Amino acid sequence: MARAKSAGSSGGRTQDAIALLKADHRQVEEWFEQFEKARNDDRKQELATQICNALKVHTTIEEEIFYPAFLEATDDTDIHHEAEVEHNGAKKLIAEIEGSSPEDEYFDAKVKVLSEMIKHHVKEEEKSGGMFSEARDSDMDLDALGEQLAARKAELEGQSEDDDDVPPPRGQKERSQPGRSMKSGR
Ligand SMILES: [Fe+2]
Ligand SMILES: [Fe+2]
Repeated sequence: MARAKSAGSSGGRTQDAIALLKADHRQVEEWFEQFEKARNDDRKQELATQICNALKVHTTIEEEIFYPAFLEATDDTDIHHEAEVEHNGAKKLIAEIEGSSPEDEYFDAKVKVLSEMIKHHVKEEEKSGGMFSEARDSDMDLDALGEQLAARKAELEGQSEDDDDVPPPRGQKERSQPGRSMKSGR
């Protein structure tokens, strides 16, 4: 709701890592709320797809960039490992939702349980003494990490758009063809 005070004034200055990740959290929370209010199946499907795609990108950039940097800087294996295990649980449910649809009797329940898992996980990341506050107290370069997260996020978002309409280009290996192209005697 509240507009960022600095919007437009700094010519697109990048967010630091924690600001970026928190903004992702707020976006997904908003979509979960909208899902709860949604009445028709098309809208539910649209929101579920947005939520799943956003969470896949978010967990990937955390796992590839932020979590390793956190572990390196803090040596806090407890917080790090719990976060990864929570991601793995969420990913299984995301895959189930992606393989399902609003006509499925359990669809709403799956999205609801995912929202609860994410709510818990986000709280763990953002609470006082949690991962983000430990990261702030460490010597992590949060500005540089913010740039890396933003770049990787943009790349992944571009990929998931491509996945929708581009068939696999040259997946078959050339060398498998001679055997297959042998005359079959007809
Ligand atoms: Fe997160
Ligand atoms: Fe996370």
